[in-house]
Amino acid sequence: MLTQGDISLRIIRTKDAKTIEALVLGNREWLRPWEATNPYGPVSFDFKSQIRSLLRQLERSEGMPFVILYQGEIVGQLNVANILHGSVSSCVIGYWISPEVAGKGITPTTVALAMDYMFNAVGIHRVEIDIRPENGASIRVVQKLGLRYEGLKKNYIHINGDWRDHYVFALTFEEAKDGVLNRWMQKKVPKIVYHFPK
Ligand SMILES: CC(C)(COP(=O)(O)OP(=O)(O)OC[C@H]1O[C@@H](n2cnc3c(N)ncnc32)[C@H](O)[C@@H]1OP(=O)(O)O)[C@@H](O)C(=O)NCCC(=O)NCCS
Repeated sequence: MLTQGDISLRIIRTKDAKTIEALVLGNREWLRPWEATNPYGPVSFDFKSQIRSLLRQLERSEGMPFVILYQGEIVGQLNVANILHGSVSSCVIGYWISPEVAGKGITPTTVALAMDYMFNAVGIHRVEIDIRPENGASIRVVQKLGLRYEGLKKNYIHINGDWRDHYVFALTFEEAKDGVLNRWMQKKVPKIVYHFPK
């Protein structure tokens, strides 16, 4: 369990399926514009099998699937995916939370907890977060934590029924040696102004 105050991350369990299902199905309008979809068929809402597949990635050291807890209740997911070891040592983070708890800084705190864990416990060197240009709330999350803008991936992920462009943001271990959570809590994150392509 990774914890900061009321906010925690723990590895997902198959018995979380019912709670996740209620949150995802109860918040379709909130999540749909940002949700990965299957380019070859309908999206599966079999949450137990989705969780099993995430846990298989964990077993193979390819991923680290967390649930986000606020005051002990599940309020979202943070998924570390595409973990590459060796000379690349990088991973990608994705996340969502329920609209009832949006705007409290829960996501930046959990992303900071996860990044520190990946850097210090797993030995990852670079963390990437990919965000649709339209997702201002998510861009604020990476800006608050001081991730660098690296560029645009054209038609990168199938989201909400089509291939969507994504901005790439990243941070390497050397850029936040004193800890991502530490500098966010201490209000020491360097101010970043992003210059996106027109
Ligand atoms: C993006 C998301 C994870 C941000 O989580 P969060 O815990 O609310 O993050 P923060 O509290 O730092 O708020 C980030 C921004 O969200 C916006 N926001 C705040 N409260 C909000 C609310 N009630 N409703 C909508 N947006 C809100 C603000 O722009 C805020 O930036 P600010 O603090 O500078 O005002 C969350 O909005 C979400 O789950 N959205 C749907 C799924 C999604 O977009 N996932 C990310 C895909 S890359």
